[in-house]
Amino acid sequence: MTVRELQEKILKLKKETNTAVLAHSYQAREIVEIADYTGDSYKLSVDATKTNAENILFCGVHFMAETAKMLSPEKRVFLANKNAGCPMAEQMDKDMIAQLKQSEPDRTVVAYINTTAELKTVCDVCVTSSSALRIVKSLDSDKILFIPDCNLGGWIKKQIPEKDIKLLQGGCPTHAVITVNEVKKAREEHPDALFLAHPECIPDVTALAEYVGSTSGIMDFAKKSDCREFIIGTETSIAEHLQYDCPDKKFYPLTKNLVCRNMKLTTLPDVYNSLMGIAGDENADAFEIIMSDELIASARKCIDEMIRLGG
Ligand code: 13P
Ligand code: SF4
Repeated sequence: MTVRELQEKILKLKKETNTAVLAHSYQAREIVEIADYTGDSYKLSVDATKTNAENILFCGVHFMAETAKMLSPEKRVFLANKNAGCPMAEQMDKDMIAQLKQSEPDRTVVAYINTTAELKTVCDVCVTSSSALRIVKSLDSDKILFIPDCNLGGWIKKQIPEKDIKLLQGGCPTHAVITVNEVKKAREEHPDALFLAHPECIPDVTALAEYVGSTSGIMDFAKKSDCREFIIGTETSIAEHLQYDCPDKKFYPLTKNLVCRNMKLTTLPDVYNSLMGIAGDENADAFEIIMSDELIASARKCIDEMIRLGG
């Protein structure tokens, strides 16, 4: 079967099962093409609340599907590949953060949305990479514990030196391994290109960028810019999608290694199998996100706070 034929079957099954497919921008082109909504983690969590579909099939990683479930608990939410987890989301232990909170009760706990629902229950407010700086700035509190990404947290801290921002050792294994030498090499190869980086990269790397921002921030910047060439310092799919959207510009992935293995676990056959499972086929496997009402009520408080503060 060709990719196009499989996509046709998926489009038909989506209609038959009343399912909306949400795909993070780090997903492969053939998945983004059959999705109802695509974008960064914040946009998708809001899109999940907008759809009238009965079911949501998430192509991304586990915490994103959990967030969609918390914001739309009346819907059935499925993750297209049950093994797709974000390693950063698992890095901090709920009890350890609860203890830290007890020892410093005046410190506001700000959690990157890349965290488990369990951990969110002990956090005060969530942020995404597109909203982190704005939300931390807007908080009344000047004492903050930012978890789990010390690179994103460090990038915010640099821009708001007046706030006391405590960081812990955590981060994204895909972005944090990018080196200054790789940036220098890419610059030598493409001297006319602007370098755009995600704030999950280490500070020495983001310091070299002409623009630092979230997945959608990088895409918007590149589309609006008068410049014709860009080195993309985030997951390689972003360079691929940009190249497709802006054929008259040139996009170079910073390195071929900037691939999130977890995001790339999801394949088009996974999407098809999940939809077959939702349709009731006993031989197909649809992985549903199941959460208790208590966990949803407790964990979504910090997501509601993020939305209240304007994403
Ligand atoms: P965005 O918030 O930019 O979508 O990033 C999510 C993520 O996992 C980045 O690695
Ligand atoms: Fe998690 Fe990093 Fe992959 Fe994003 S790129 S999903 S933070 S491992």
